[in-house]
Amino acid sequence: MISEIKNEVKVEVAELLKPVLADQFVLYTKARNYHWNVTGNMFFALHEKFEELYDELANDIDEVAERIRTLGVYSPGSLNEFLKISGIKEEKEGNIPTQMQMVENIVNDYEFLMIRINQAAEKIQSEYKDEVTFGQLTALCEKYQKHVWMLKSLITK
Ligand SMILES: [Fe+2]
Repeated sequence: MISEIKNEVKVEVAELLKPVLADQFVLYTKARNYHWNVTGNMFFALHEKFEELYDELANDIDEVAERIRTLGVYSPGSLNEFLKISGIKEEKEGNIPTQMQMVENIVNDYEFLMIRINQAAEKIQSEYKDEVTFGQLTALCEKYQKHVWMLKSLITK
């Protein structure tokens, strides 16, 4: 129960969620960028897939930010802050990767995000005993693992 979680613990859990939120936000932006700029023979599949991913990430971002608020902490909400704390890098301005490179970049970013989520989730469960946040993070990883599998399948020769 959230009411049983001590305030100091809520703050610690929220601090672990902030980098996850920032990573998700940068990845959301990258998926939009790739949705607009992808070219090549996989255009239709990737244009649609990237849209599906950023739509999902838009909801996931909201869920994580609102969890931070539920824990009584203010959420990061500026692009500047997201870029500062995200471990995922934006695509360089003016750089348009090939369709294959875009998929590889997105796969690598999801894998990075999942490492970050798993590290946070492990601590949140074992040290802070916040099963609700733990459950939310586990559900995110379940979806992201599936995306990684599908995207890898698309580019495996
Ligand atoms: Fe569009």
